[in-house]
Amino acid sequence: MMSTPRPHQPVMVTEVLEALAIRPDGIYLDGTVGGGGHAAEIAARLETGRLIGLDCDPSALEVARARLEQFVERVTLVHANFAQLDRVLDELGIAHVNGILLDLGVSLTQLDTPQRGLSFRLEGPLDMRLDPTQELTAADLVNTLDERELTKIFRDYGEERWAARIAHTIVRERRQHPIETTTELVRVIEQSIPAAVRRKSRIHPATRVFQALRIAVNDELDNLQRALTVGFERLAPGGRCVVISFHSLEDRIVKRFFRERLKAGQAEQIRGPIRPSSEECAQNPRARSAKLRVLSKAP
Ligand SMILES: C[S@@+](CC[C@H](N)C(=O)[O-])C[C@H]1O[C@@H](n2cnc3c(N)ncnc32)[C@H](O)[C@@H]1O
Repeated sequence: MMSTPRPHQPVMVTEVLEALAIRPDGIYLDGTVGGGGHAAEIAARLETGRLIGLDCDPSALEVARARLEQFVERVTLVHANFAQLDRVLDELGIAHVNGILLDLGVSLTQLDTPQRGLSFRLEGPLDMRLDPTQELTAADLVNTLDERELTKIFRDYGEERWAARIAHTIVRERRQHPIETTTELVRVIEQSIPAAVRRKSRIHPATRVFQALRIAVNDELDNLQRALTVGFERLAPGGRCVVISFHSLEDRIVKRFFRERLKAGQAEQIRGPIRPSSEECAQNPRARSAKLRVLSKAP
């Protein structure tokens, strides 16, 4: 078992900076400030401008605060969900921003922290909340939803072929005792998938169910849709919205939203998917599934 969480390595930094086309006097909103990797690069390019960094995880904000110390005059960090970026901007008295960055999902640091229950490789409580001030956990879902609801989550958010069987086994097992840890859930998933299928699979059998539960616990797809909608309204004319997604459900939402704005004549241009270079993928395996999309608002 790993003892120290790995520091998060930002993906596609060159591509993000190019896409944001930073103005030294501009106002930028990083909705997923995380370890502050992208934010530090943005802040370094500002002169009179400002960077607003949000994260729903207070411990990520602490890491970002240390990383961004040298830019303290230009940076404001706020504990908030990016779906509420309009409220944050209102409170700061900012009407419009020149760029928005969303680097979706979880950081390596979060993934490597067993107590967060995000990794099927580490023993920990079945938590999965990105924002620890939220009440609902993955254990709540696993132990209270009925079989049909669990199947739907695994199917809709995990595209899991064995969704119904896994939900069935969960409901049977939890009658004996509640499923409280990541390892217990992994065992139940493994029991539900035929051994021959498991042997042939290129991914860990728990990958899709863990993704699905994380999306459900954190309401990730609705939050993304809302952040795009309110973010677009707060983008200044000519401003850029840059989103990095890591799976097809997120990417589909971003693609559809950008295309609709273009069709409506509200966007001047959209680009993507832009993929990381093979050098970056070799050096940072997490980058392999990254897709970057860019929208420029009409002037
Ligand atoms: C992939 S990491 C971002 C890494 C960051 N770009 C960097 O360079 O270090 C994603 C971060 O977004 C945060 N996050 C995910 N969903 C969020 C949401 N709806 N609102 C605010 N923060 C969110 C996570 O807590 C995590 O810290």
